[in-house]
Amino acid sequence: MDRKQLKRASGPLTGEIAIPGDKSISHRSVMFGAIAEGKTTVTNFLMGEDCLSTISCFQKLGVSIQHDNEKVIIEGKGLDGLQEPMELLDVGNSGTTIRLMSGILAGRDFHSTLAGDSSIAKRPMTRVVGPLREMGAKIDGRSNGEFTPISIRGNSLKAISYKLPVASAQVKSSILFAGLQAEGTTTVIEPVSTRDHTERMIKRFGGNINVDGKSIHITGGQRLTAADIHVPGDISSAAFFLVAASIVPDSSVILKNVGLNPTRTGIMDVLTNMGANVSILDSNDEFEPTGDLRIEASTLKGTTIDGEIIPRLIDEIPIIALLATQAEGTTIIKDAEELKVKETNRIDTVVNELKKLGANIEATEDGMIIHGGAPLKGAVVDSHGDHRIGMMLAVASLVTDGAVILENAEAIAVSYPSFFEHMESLTKQ
Ligand code: S3P
Repeated sequence: MDRKQLKRASGPLTGEIAIPGDKSISHRSVMFGAIAEGKTTVTNFLMGEDCLSTISCFQKLGVSIQHDNEKVIIEGKGLDGLQEPMELLDVGNSGTTIRLMSGILAGRDFHSTLAGDSSIAKRPMTRVVGPLREMGAKIDGRSNGEFTPISIRGNSLKAISYKLPVASAQVKSSILFAGLQAEGTTTVIEPVSTRDHTERMIKRFGGNINVDGKSIHITGGQRLTAADIHVPGDISSAAFFLVAASIVPDSSVILKNVGLNPTRTGIMDVLTNMGANVSILDSNDEFEPTGDLRIEASTLKGTTIDGEIIPRLIDEIPIIALLATQAEGTTIIKDAEELKVKETNRIDTVVNELKKLGANIEATEDGMIIHGGAPLKGAVVDSHGDHRIGMMLAVASLVTDGAVILENAEAIAVSYPSFFEHMESLTKQ
């Protein structure tokens, strides 16, 4: 278990970095490449542990996938080309892998078992198992399918109309993957819009999907064809340096190639509302919009974050909490109970770890309240195996009085293997 000693920034953050590929889009590029017909080439793929888990699961399903740095080549043979795996499908720490793959496997006429690490073993699966069973899949697992390991005996599926009880792109995507294989037209109705990478990628691979406000319709029996995908940089990774440059005095940083899909840009709205100095320098609107961002340090003020914006920044709440400790006034985060079922219970881990650094922060039932302005001090803190908690604490060390010792720092490789290199390159004078 890596223990890393981190110290306060000795001056402003300067320079530019290219943000590594988006995790959500990287996962989906392999999944769609595997179920489409033909050769899919993916560039700027995120070589994080989560996405490597997705590659390895599809290799166990008989799909030929080669990767060399950030380039991945997938030889898709269509849905019918997937084969019954001889081994357990190990998803590691990746919730996206297990939830989305369940939707694919639900319609395959073979048996498979999925499991992951100790964090995955605590995360709820009924949210996908329930609707997939309704469509006709035979799924079992610990606690009647609520927890891993889960085993799936795929079946012919029938379309359903499903109102999502929680705003979750993972659940939506899982049902859409099953819907692609079902008889009839499946409808998913979202309570609040969530990231739409699956919908965009279905179109990119030649499929038909119809989005009508918060209702999404997909007809089964479609054949997808291979496509080339260039993965944009992950705004959820960029968020750590957007915040770092906002809170370390006199910083000015450029982040290149950041994905700016509107279902993911809640962090940009929050930064602007809090008085941060962030601008889009150059953007283009491909199948996923991207742009270069400039961020400069500024005086920040507290804000309230709640309602429909939450799914647009759900993964950024840990780093937003740190940002709020450096703002004047109070920040209130509400409607975010989903944080409790992420890689860790992120209400508890954010609040407890930031308290160790001296922050004035309290947990609530569905979020947290942060009173800005309390000076942060060095301490021994822990990622608890959660990549985003680890990165948030590493960024916090840039403004603490005294060294921060970060336990379990290795978790960061789940989504951002080059994080410390990038931090070093921006902090070296
Ligand atoms: C993801 C969706 C989100 C997010 C996760 C990735 C995806 O989860 O937190 O990191 O790729 O679909 P939920 O949709 O379950 O909120």
